[in-house]
Amino acid sequence: MSKTNFAAIILAAGKGTRMKSTKHKVLHPVGGRPMLAYLLETVTALEPAKTVLVVGSGKEQLQAAVTGAHFVEQTEQLGTGHAAKVAVQSLAGFNGDIIVLFGDVPFISSDIMGAMITRGHEVGISQASSEHHAENGMVVLGFRPNDPAKYGRLIVDTDGHLERIVEYKDASEEERAITLCNSGMMWIKGSHASKWLDEIKNDNAAGEFYLTDLVALARRDGFSVATVEAPEEDVLGVNNREDLARAEAARQRIWRKTALEAGVTMTDPETVYFSYDTKIGCDVTIEPGVFFGRGVVVEDGVTIKAYSHIEGATIRRGAIIGPFARLRPAADIGENAKVGNFVEVKKAKVAEGAKINHLSYIGDAEIGAAANIGAGTITCNYDGFLKYPTKIGAGAFIGSNSALVAPVTIGNGAIVGAGSIITKDVGDDALAVARGKQREIKGYAAKFREEKTAEKSNLKNKTGSGA
Ligand code: UD1
Ligand code: MG
Repeated sequence: MSKTNFAAIILAAGKGTRMKSTKHKVLHPVGGRPMLAYLLETVTALEPAKTVLVVGSGKEQLQAAVTGAHFVEQTEQLGTGHAAKVAVQSLAGFNGDIIVLFGDVPFISSDIMGAMITRGHEVGISQASSEHHAENGMVVLGFRPNDPAKYGRLIVDTDGHLERIVEYKDASEEERAITLCNSGMMWIKGSHASKWLDEIKNDNAAGEFYLTDLVALARRDGFSVATVEAPEEDVLGVNNREDLARAEAARQRIWRKTALEAGVTMTDPETVYFSYDTKIGCDVTIEPGVFFGRGVVVEDGVTIKAYSHIEGATIRRGAIIGPFARLRPAADIGENAKVGNFVEVKKAKVAEGAKINHLSYIGDAEIGAAANIGAGTITCNYDGFLKYPTKIGAGAFIGSNSALVAPVTIGNGAIVGAGSIITKDVGDDALAVARGKQREIKGYAAKFREEKTAEKSNLKNKTGSGA
């Protein structure tokens, strides 16, 4: 997108202690995907000359999870300014500009990132006096959160330029009343980045090297520092589980809106949860309480009834799912097929028009077109060691409460009698019944009742008890 020469630095070396987790902060998922993945995807689209990920504590977790970035280790977490310095040192010989991003502020859009880079190359024109023209040494991405909480505050001069950033811990009451906050993203002029980063000191309340101190240094050297403002949802910082929940809620709001705009009907959108990659066609109806895990594709005209849990599944045109259905990875539900209440389908291809309407487990299976799977049918796919396939032919009818012990094949048009335990293949158009034969003993129940009544009354007379 941007053809300017810049390197992206993503800071992710902090301990993330406020998350109280053994999982690295930036790997905590939002919408089913590690938060860092959002940032990397957006940055990569801007085609940086290099992307540097600054890692420290928990670096092994990041190395295992992340590709496409050059890792630089910050052995001691001495602050954001120190982390950026370590990264810039690793870029020795690179003469382009620098953008700094925080791994825990992952939802910045590519439009905003592009705007930051463009602004960096503009001349900072004073709003107060047209005489004051200065090159931008930096651009800082600001925002006005509902609750400015502990974010750093942006101190803007009378000309409307950024003068300095003050961290919450170091701010006076007056400064804390400022609502324009630091998101963490910065553009820094390449020619001066190293020099300014070398000059940062740690004489502040936290005893850390603050990246935010760069602003005052750029101003001292006669540069202008501009701000770009982003919507709060794009620059939410995730420092604890409450922030994580807030970030999730913000993403869900966006995805729900996108789905509604694309022609999806949701009776109660706030109760429907999407993943980052959920694909939904048009004229799809989603009832309340539906959850989409990763990797779901829903084609046009599908209805998903209330309280269904769906992950890794493909649901083809016109199919009806739920209520209370569970589709697990590699469930492929054919056109106009039906999967009803309390049915779990895993790694199974259900062909067009097939019906599995009640209380079933279908796993490692192929169900033929228009087959009817009766209530309570179970594919017994696992012997405690390995998994085996079940094949059910087109138009087959499986009676209720049948157990199909895999590997097993039921032919096209075959019928399995209710309550059968099927351990052998069944041929096309055959009937298989595998259950105890029914016997009837005339009058036995009445005789049984008579005997037992007498027995109980004898016992009462003997003991005199009412037992
Ligand atoms: C930082 C900003 C604050 C801003 C807020 C936005 C500073 C001094 N403060 O505060 O102005 O409002 O983000 O969310 O920059 N990190 C390292 N190495 C370190 C320390 C931190 O890599 O030595 C990384 C962290 O992993 C994290 C990022 O830098 O990804 C930000 O650090 P964090 O401690 O979360 O800073 P905040 O207190 O949120
Ligand atoms: Mg933070």
